[in-house]
Amino acid sequence: MNEEQRKHGQQAAGQEDKKTEKDYSKYFQSVYIPPSLKDAKKRGKESVQYHNDFKIDEKFRGMGDNKKFYIRTYGCQMNEHDTEVMAGIFMALGYEATNSTEDADVILLNTCAIRENAENKVFGELGHLKHLKREKPELLIGVCGCMSQEESVVNKILKTYHQVDMIFGTHNIHRLPNILNDAYMSKAMVVEVWSKEGDVIENLPKVRRGNIKAWVNIMYGCDKFCTYCIVPYTRGKERSRRPEEIIQEVRHLASQGYQEVTLLGQNVNAYGKDIEDLENYGLGDLMDELRKIDIPRIRFTTSHPRDFDDHLIEVLAKKGNLVEHIHLPVQSGSSAVLKIMARKYTRERFLELVGKIKAAMPDTALTTDIIVGYPNETEEQFEETLSLYREVGFESAYTYIYSPREGTPAAKMNDNVPMEVKRERLQRLNKLVNEYSAEALKQYEGKIVEVLVEGESKKNPEILAGYTRRNKLVNFKAPKTTIGKTVKVKITDTKSWSLNGEFVEEGRIGSEFLEEAAEVK
Ligand code: SAH
Ligand code: SF4
Ligand code: F3S
Repeated sequence: MNEEQRKHGQQAAGQEDKKTEKDYSKYFQSVYIPPSLKDAKKRGKESVQYHNDFKIDEKFRGMGDNKKFYIRTYGCQMNEHDTEVMAGIFMALGYEATNSTEDADVILLNTCAIRENAENKVFGELGHLKHLKREKPELLIGVCGCMSQEESVVNKILKTYHQVDMIFGTHNIHRLPNILNDAYMSKAMVVEVWSKEGDVIENLPKVRRGNIKAWVNIMYGCDKFCTYCIVPYTRGKERSRRPEEIIQEVRHLASQGYQEVTLLGQNVNAYGKDIEDLENYGLGDLMDELRKIDIPRIRFTTSHPRDFDDHLIEVLAKKGNLVEHIHLPVQSGSSAVLKIMARKYTRERFLELVGKIKAAMPDTALTTDIIVGYPNETEEQFEETLSLYREVGFESAYTYIYSPREGTPAAKMNDNVPMEVKRERLQRLNKLVNEYSAEALKQYEGKIVEVLVEGESKKNPEILAGYTRRNKLVNFKAPKTTIGKTVKVKITDTKSWSLNGEFVEEGRIGSEFLEEAAEVK
């Protein structure tokens, strides 16, 4: 064990007094640092250290020569971006990418723990991979991401999924070379999960999935501890990257020709609060600097309503490359439910915030996340969610049935809402969401919009597809040379989830619509 592992191993050793299902450590000749949700809950006062010294150890160079890797990602954009970093590390080790599990010498499942069905998918996939491992015993199979941070998952894999060779978590992906090396050297499963977040490492290699849109982390972790949510346990405490690093990364992406950047964090509105030497520096200040960079579009996700401040609204209203779309998860329209969720705002406060946003930016599209069937949610409380949806006029929403997550406070609550009722509520909510989405799209008929062309449509290679500033999908015919560029498209008709249109010309509008159709042609 090296110093870094020892530090995190001690956290795990802290659970000695804990009655774990079974102590598997005796089976291990190699690294065994299992997770502990109890440790993951702790929030230390120590300040975040920033490192710029990541490098691949000489002894690992060439580890991947003539070998291929495959990574399947199950989670949010944060997980997608972690996959880009792991792909970067694989390439630096000499591996080649493949998109077929059959061809791969190493398969990683980058998992998500947010709801039970996300977890079930991973266990299903591990079942399929068992056959592959039998045919090709030298294949390495790894499980990483948020599920690895849960002790119940690690125990289940140790007990039942012996085809797995390595388990590591979200805080130590920079140790991938060492973990791979340990897995090659050892017959036992390598388990290295840190329950305490690590420092911020700035110079990890990345292989981005595309060359048009890019993700940029602005912060890691979450300290909000909404009572239903596993993320604060799987991602550790809030740690902001320094503004100068973010600005430099966005500038670099712009110089490479990227057209759009999405700033990532679980709660981007808390950005900067943890940087000690920057007083009162927040997301608004960061956005105010980023808007000066010559890149057509900047988005951010996800906003927590509680920390959404007036300065941010003021800056977003300056538009330019700051697009007219805010994803603002509300979760419920009932103040009583919001209170049990520990969201720390009421229905009224949320509506007040929406009022401010609309007053400053009338053309901004709002989208949201909603959970139905929270423990003991009454019919009236659910109806408050429907009425809030109407009152705000959200353009779209991700909707979920509440899923209990072991280790969170909500999982311990009694729940008197039967599953059929939850399903029925979800259906009613989805019906409303669909009506509002269709209505939002209807407004586009005949308008000329700005579209960032991303490539051929999935269904028909003759047709190109891209998104507007408000994130509406548009399909249209245009020369392939427009891929990666911003173009003007006249909307001819609307589908349930997308818009069809005719290509007008290349160029930016700088807002969602062209005010006067006569301005073109
Ligand atoms: N940090 C983001 C949310 C990330 S998780 C935020 O606070 O806005 C994405 C969404 O998953 C959440 O907004 C919530 O709607 C949903 N979600 C989280 N935990 C869940 C659970 N236990 N059951 C059902 N949905 C959940
Ligand atoms: Fe989860 Fe709440 Fe943090 Fe979002 S803000 S990641 S819902 S705890
Ligand atoms: Fe899932 Fe982890 Fe993201 S739980 S939603 S992958 S932060």
